[in-house]
Amino acid sequence: MRSSADRIKGDLETLGEIGKTEAGGVSRFIFTDEDFEARRFITGLMQSVGLRTVSDKVGNIIGRRPGRNEDLPPVMTGSHIDTVPNAGIFDGCVGVVGAIEAMRVLNANGVTSNRPIEVVVFNNEEGVRFEPLAGSKAMACQASVDSILNSRDRDGALFREAFERGGQRIDGLPSPCRRGRVRAFVELHIEQGPILEKKGLDIGIVGAIFGIRQFLTSFRGVAGHAGGTPMSMRKDAVLAAAKTVVAVDEITKRYGPPAVGTVGSVRVYPGVVNVIGEQSEVSVDVRDSDGSRLRSRSGEVKRRIKAIARATSTEFEIVDRLEIDPTAMSRRISRVIEVCAKRVGARYTHLDSGPYHDTMMMAKITKCGMIFVPSRDGASHSRKEFTEWRQIAKGVDVLSETLVALSK
Ligand code: GLV
Ligand code: MN
Ligand code: MN
Repeated sequence: MRSSADRIKGDLETLGEIGKTEAGGVSRFIFTDEDFEARRFITGLMQSVGLRTVSDKVGNIIGRRPGRNEDLPPVMTGSHIDTVPNAGIFDGCVGVVGAIEAMRVLNANGVTSNRPIEVVVFNNEEGVRFEPLAGSKAMACQASVDSILNSRDRDGALFREAFERGGQRIDGLPSPCRRGRVRAFVELHIEQGPILEKKGLDIGIVGAIFGIRQFLTSFRGVAGHAGGTPMSMRKDAVLAAAKTVVAVDEITKRYGPPAVGTVGSVRVYPGVVNVIGEQSEVSVDVRDSDGSRLRSRSGEVKRRIKAIARATSTEFEIVDRLEIDPTAMSRRISRVIEVCAKRVGARYTHLDSGPYHDTMMMAKITKCGMIFVPSRDGASHSRKEFTEWRQIAKGVDVLSETLVALSK
């Protein structure tokens, strides 16, 4: 038996109803009512295919399919179900719903694997609330449980309290750190770019994931009257933010592809028409396939921010948020994926990922691979996101075969 596009569609659309916005997308940030409802839905699905489910101390959900040899480290697969604001229903969710469908396929085919197989829902991949990649960071032992539980969102809410609001006590839950206890990790995900669609292919086998630097810059100026304050006397935090937006664009374009640089968030205070900006906060997100180019560009942006502060007579502060070097997938696992793609008749290519993934964290403790399915018009982080159901099913078939091969 192969995977069912209809079942995948049903599960993804049901999940996609949870947190649906009036604008036609979905907003599901961790530890909101919508997130807790989505967790219940996915936990129920996992149990319905026979997985034994547990949440760890930082809110990762793990569903385990026993193997013949329960002492061996499991093969893992999965992704995330949190979203950016007004997102599509595919980013992350394809890798979770797809992994559960893969378990149905294994069950229907009477597969008993030697190693256990675990399906994981990583907590807070997107990081709209709290730190991005929190769940996979903790699973890869790259962040302590306490640092995550004691982190706060922008409104000052404590991670630990927000988590327990869902009705679970953290104390009795297992530790997330799994060093030495994961045989391999494979993530199925939408491409979030145009390559597979352009080439008319079913599958992308990821070779590497771009490195990333994210930081938040805040400028402090002096509020003043828009009519009374001469231009020469201003300390304008909004002007500093605007110059930063332009600098990120200009510096990134000078480096050229595949470098990308984004300011996705600018917040200003007091934010009214006739007051000179007193404070501003600008997010910076820069990515590149080449680690040394990324480091030098990130350094250049930071030096430019310092110069902008001087030129606008503002004070500035930079707080680093995410710093991951380019991450290569395991050649051995990519070869296994390739063999499995051939076996299921999927037309494939090898490509790199510009978006980051939980896989980057898992690669710190185990061998990893990623399977991409096409994104229509390359759209993602947008409600326009779409992947043909049969293409997801193809990806699930490749995933199922890969899990069977790796868990022998
Ligand atoms: C995660 O979705 C990213 O920003 O790459
Ligand atoms: Mn995303
Ligand atoms: Mn994702």
